[in-house]
Amino acid sequence: MSDNAQPVLDLPGTGLELRPWRLADADALVAAGRDPAISHWNLLPEQTPDQARARVERMHERWAAETGAIWAIARVGGGEVVGLTGWIGVDLGGGSAEIVYWVLPAGRGGGVAVQAARRLTRWALDDLGLHRVTLCHSVSNPASCRVAEKAGFTLEGTMRGALLHADGRHDQHLHARVRGDD
Ligand SMILES: CC(C)(COP(=O)(O)OP(=O)(O)OC[C@H]1O[C@@H](n2cnc3c(N)ncnc32)[C@H](O)[C@@H]1OP(=O)(O)O)[C@@H](O)C(=O)NCCC(=O)NCCS
Repeated sequence: MSDNAQPVLDLPGTGLELRPWRLADADALVAAGRDPAISHWNLLPEQTPDQARARVERMHERWAAETGAIWAIARVGGGEVVGLTGWIGVDLGGGSAEIVYWVLPAGRGGGVAVQAARRLTRWALDDLGLHRVTLCHSVSNPASCRVAEKAGFTLEGTMRGALLHADGRHDQHLHARVRGDD
């Protein structure tokens, strides 16, 4: 992974692409931290522009350390950021990782998250060579459950009290896609 630059991945027909985050994208992270839904479901705190730039730097450090791979969902040609998607908990030896995503309010409802998750899954299984990728969300977040279903992540079960959100502990759905799934 770290032998190569993080690739730009196409999202045909959307006018969007997945590209590495840049320091100049910090305002989008600041906006995400102010969005109540992203802040709540993605546990993203409010942050200053300096803190957002530090977060972008940590994304690149994780790529270099081969523990994470986070992309901006952005207008093609290096344009405006509409969301984030990527892999956390990358385990190259074990062949697994967990997908994360959010979309800023103006970009929601048009299939962006589903297309981004499908594209990133193809990259993880076919290009990176992982065997099993997971997707976890609170059972109280039906939009994320729909993204999981439409992106081909099978529901495997419910992890009780698995995540602490601002309003208390939430049960989480565990979805996964394994190499060879249709
Ligand atoms: C969840 C989120 C990423 C979805 O992004 P999006 O680009 O709007 O998603 P898509 O348009 O690809 O698809 C969303 C699907 O969920 C459905 N959906 C949206 N809100 C829903 C709700 N409250 N209940 C049930 N389904 C819902 C949509 O109708 C769509 O399904 P459809 O195409 O069959 O109609 C976005 O809403 C978001 O960022 N939310 C806040 C943060 C968050 O929840 N992050 C995920 C943490 S696990």
